[in-house]
This record gives sequence, C-alpha cells and structure tokens, in this order.
Amino acid sequence: MAAKAATDVRRNRGFPQASRPWDGLKAEMLAAHADDNPWCHERSFTAAYFAGDDLLRCAHEAYDVHRDENGLFAASAYPSLAACERDLIAGVLDLLHAPEGAGGSTTAGGTESILMAMKAARDWARENRPVAGVPEVVVPKTAHAAFDKGAAWLGMKVIRMERSEGWRADVAGMAAAITENTVMIAGSAPPYPYGETDPIEEIAALAVEHDLWMHSDGCIGGMILPFMTMLGEPIPPFDFAVPGVTSMSVDMHKFGYAHKGISLCLLRDKALERYHRTTFDGWPAGTYSTPTITGTRSGGAVASAWAVMTHLGEEGYLRIYEAQRRIRERLVEGIGAIEGLVVLGRPHALHVTLYADGFDIFAVEEGTAARGWRSIRMREPDSILLWLNMKHAASVDDYLSDLAEVADEVRRGGLTAAMRGASNYAT
Ligand SMILES: Cc1ncc(COP(=O)(O)O)c(C=O)c1O
Repeated sequence: MAAKAATDVRRNRGFPQASRPWDGLKAEMLAAHADDNPWCHERSFTAAYFAGDDLLRCAHEAYDVHRDENGLFAASAYPSLAACERDLIAGVLDLLHAPEGAGGSTTAGGTESILMAMKAARDWARENRPVAGVPEVVVPKTAHAAFDKGAAWLGMKVIRMERSEGWRADVAGMAAAITENTVMIAGSAPPYPYGETDPIEEIAALAVEHDLWMHSDGCIGGMILPFMTMLGEPIPPFDFAVPGVTSMSVDMHKFGYAHKGISLCLLRDKALERYHRTTFDGWPAGTYSTPTITGTRSGGAVASAWAVMTHLGEEGYLRIYEAQRRIRERLVEGIGAIEGLVVLGRPHALHVTLYADGFDIFAVEEGTAARGWRSIRMREPDSILLWLNMKHAASVDDYLSDLAEVADEVRRGGLTAAMRGASNYAT
C-alpha cells in the first residue's frame, strides 16, 4: 500500500491562470486521492484513531457546526463555542484528577501543547528561580521530538537521556543530569516509541526536590490511561494526582477521537497560564492576547472534541477501551506464541513495539508488507511499531497468522530485508 506518485492534478505547474469548474476538479482530486494510502484500514497499523463509524460521524458533524467560525473570537462572538471549550477543559481536568483552581488551553495539537508548557516553564523560571545559563529541560530518551522543536524556538536546551532502562525513563540518569540551569523535567504517559508509561511519580519527585516545572506528556495516554485504570489495568500514576506534576499535554485528536486539530495544555494552577500567554497592545487593533501560538483557527476542532467527549461520556470511553484492550491482548498473546518475537515493554495504551530476537525484524516488516500489512519501522533496537484501532478486531488473527509464517521464513533464512533504517517523519 505504498503511496504512488501523485497523478496530474497535483503536478506543480505554478499559479493557475484560468478558473476551473469545481465539479470537474473535484472528480480529478478524488481520482488522485484514490492512489493515496487509506487513512485507516484493517491491514494498516499506522496511527489512525478509529473507534467506530458512528463516533466518526459525531466528530465530523460537530466539527461542521462551528467549522467556519474563527476560534480566536469565540469569547466575543461565539459564546456557545466558548462554552464548549470551557466544558472540554473542565471535563478533562476532572478526569485527570486536577485540583481546584487548575486550568488549561486548547491548542492545535500535541506539539503546540508541549511548546506552551515549555514556554510557561521558561518564563516561570525567569520570574521565580532565574538561571544564569541557557534554561535546560531534562527528558527521557523516548520523549517526543516536540521537546527539541520547542527548545529550538524558545532558546532552551534539551538534555535527553541516552538510555531507556527497561523501555522506561532512566530516572537515575535524569537526576544526575539536573544542573543549576535546569528549569523543567518531563516524562511521557506513555511515550511514542514504547508503550510503557514512564515512572511519572519518580520524575515528579525530582521536580519537587529541585523546584522544577514537571510536564507529564499525556498526548497519547491522557485519554486512554484513566479508562484503562478504571478497567483494572495496573497503570502507574501519571496525572495531576501525582504531587509535582505541573502541566500535562492531552491530545483530543488522538485517543479522544475528535477531528484533527485539537489538544489540551493543562495546568495544575490556572495562574500559571500567564507564563505561556502572549499579550500585545501596541497597534491600532487594540489588545491581542492569546495563550497559544495560533491566531485564526477553525472553531470546528474544539466543537468536535466537546461533542465526542459529551456523546461518549465515561461509559462510552470504557466500552471502547474494553473492546480495544481485548484486541491488544490477542495481539500480545499471539506474538508471544511466535518463536523469537518479543514485545518491548508493557503496552499501557494501544501501541505495541515488536522486536525479533536473533533475526531481522525489518525482513519481517517487508514480508508482512508484501502481504498487504503496513507497520512502522523503529530503531534502537530495530523493531516495528503497531498502532491498534477498532478495525483490527476483524484482522488481528489474520495478521498473527501471516506474522508467524513470515517470521518463520525469515528465521530459516528464506527472506532478507531489501531496505534498512527506521520510518521517517519528514514533511
Ligand atoms: C507522546 C507524544 N507526544 C507528543 C506528540 C505530538 O503530537 P502532535 O503530532 O499532535 O503534534 C506525539 C505524537 O505522536 C506523541 O506520541
């Protein structure tokens, strides 16, 4: 299912001169789009957050209600959209055991939420515990690349651990990496590369001891782990119930099942919001004050997240995660029965990292790809990542039987990889 070269409609021809009727153009777009990989498919294990067609309809239709409104003017012009935003933030703060007085902002995605937490940490430190050098952020090896993007923009420095002990944060290494310039420390619940949540309690204890801003990155797990915990899974504490957690990022457009374009940057104390807010007054248009990076944005994503949260409620999310953890259990159990294949870490969410002991996992990836399965290549160690969704209820057994056959072929030397290296995320 590799993407084919875009057909005519997307060729770079410079700025169009003549107008063209939409109907014909639409037909061309759709024909070209037919060559793209499907965003979600039962044979694809790329990250697609699908929990049923009904839910998708809710996410899309709610988006459409506020799609054309500018979220920048929600407070002044669209009070019902502003109410959705307030409700959404309050609902997720409640889910994540935030204390009275907590607050938050909606952002366009996980990266923006992390950037806002970093800006807040930097400016909080400037005011409360100034450092002489470049402000440093200590993160586990597996922390998302957004921390490095943020550091580049904000004049900060990321100190990234070199090891990932037992597929989780190397807390001893993080403690040793704290210097007089450290202002922030972070962990992930769970990280992208392996599905096991970092020891957030231990990282937050370091924050308390050294007076640091602590960020728990729940971009993936913020909307899964509370429900997995309610379902009886042994999930380590990761949210505001942990003393010392200052901020969290929670992506509603991932496992909150909203339309893309919405995450939350949540704060233990809403007074901290002023450290990531930007206010400007020196132009003819009056005061311009926003807590995030974006200016104009569609009101749709906020509406979509609010509607999905309200439509599902705790009851609905529990139903979805009960079904999806059964898929994950079948997958993990099936992998365990295939000689030489190992799951790295203990998957707390819905992604599973697969390693081959004694043979080439990339040959396995290519062999399964030849049978129509898509997965993501990882490194350190070479491994493949599988993101699960509700579609896989229908296909996990077929995948396991193809995986067993392909692994056997690779183990016996009948299949080698044509390509090396991890998947790339470059635009
Ligand atoms: C743990 C984690 N944090 C942050 C992000 C960044 O989120 P986004 O791609 O929405 O900016 C991701 C994305 O996959 C992630 O897995």
